[in-house]
Amino acid sequence: MSYKVIQWTTGHVGREAVKGILAHPELQLVGAYAWSKEKVGKDVGELCGLDPIGVKATDDVDALLSMGADCVCYAPGWPNIDEMVRILEAGLNMVCSYFITGTSWGEEARGRLAKAAEKGRASLFGSGIFPGFAPFIAALMAAVSRDFRCVRFLESVDLSPYAAFANFARLGWGQPPDPKWSEVNQVALGTYGEGIEVIADMLGIAITEKRFKYEYATTPNDRAFFGFPVPAGTIAGQRCTWSGMVDESPAVVLDVVWKAGSNLQPDWPLMHGYVMEVEGNPNVHTRVTFSPPGMKTRGPSGAGAEVADLANIITAMPVISAIPAVCDAAPGIRTYADLPLITGRYVHAAKKRT
Ligand SMILES: NC(=O)c1ccc[n+]([C@@H]2O[C@H](COP(=O)([O-])OP(=O)(O)OC[C@H]3O[C@@H](n4cnc5c(N)ncnc54)[C@H](OP(=O)(O)O)[C@@H]3O)[C@@H](O)[C@H]2O)c1
Repeated sequence: MSYKVIQWTTGHVGREAVKGILAHPELQLVGAYAWSKEKVGKDVGELCGLDPIGVKATDDVDALLSMGADCVCYAPGWPNIDEMVRILEAGLNMVCSYFITGTSWGEEARGRLAKAAEKGRASLFGSGIFPGFAPFIAALMAAVSRDFRCVRFLESVDLSPYAAFANFARLGWGQPPDPKWSEVNQVALGTYGEGIEVIADMLGIAITEKRFKYEYATTPNDRAFFGFPVPAGTIAGQRCTWSGMVDESPAVVLDVVWKAGSNLQPDWPLMHGYVMEVEGNPNVHTRVTFSPPGMKTRGPSGAGAEVADLANIITAMPVISAIPAVCDAAPGIRTYADLPLITGRYVHAAKKRT
């Protein structure tokens, strides 16, 4: 079975998604949407740093939606609800790099998406590394623990080598501390907190309240990342914590620590990846890190650049790996809690297409 896929934009994540689609034995790239005018008419392979593949990027949405594709891999810088509704109503399944349940987008937006999926008999799913796949690993770990009370998850990374660094400007980075940044982050990062709903759903936890906490860290000196200035005294790091409470006890805790370099104030220690713990009988612990091909996994002392460099691949691949299951799923908003187990696809080196 082959699933025909349209790639929606070819930014940092989208370019890795294209490579993931080309490498997947059950997927076929049939089209690509370009938001940037200068990308229209260009070969998608070339837009992704590959040889030409014979598929050209277009901004003709009607043509894309009527070409008989099974799925859109949606990875624009910021999701557009009207656009998502149009794709779903046209009957195309969607996998997204920034969507989990949609509850933080408000009832109206989520309701429109659910209705569009129903109308188009299409499924909508989102993943990535976090939000997305990494908290799912944490939830799976609870399977070995009896009487577990809490699942804890920490993303802890240095973002200074992250090419999409400028995306953090809207969260307050490079700007003076201000109480408004707490609310800005709560709204902008609401999708991260939605992971609590998926874990609760998977593990049968009846969450009674969701809490959010924001802390910032400033830089004592001027810094710049990919041309984005972060002057002395401005925000260069943050810690956000989403807690899913059962009465007064935290049952699911999602924590994210992002820093741009070291020597911040405060200077939270970094774990360079993901630390997950289940509190129960027994307690379960794991740490997930990433390293480039050919390099051994590194310890907590020096893996920052590798983790950030690989961020776009580990964001794109859980989304791509889910395409067959999402295309086969019942219409509606789907999560890891109601899809079959999603795995990667092994391809023998001699048969690789890219
Ligand atoms: N779940 C996770 O783990 C995770 C991790 C990282 C990122 N993400 C999310 O993945 C998405 C893609 O991230 P990214 O770093 O790849 O983003 P990006 O490179 O900054 O932008 C992606 C594309 O969005 C299009 N675009 C830019 N400005 C736009 C505008 N004003 N209106 C409409 N489209 C616009 C461009 O399309 P063209 O290709 O046509 O130029 C651009 O290439 C984001 O929503 C991000 O939050 C998720």
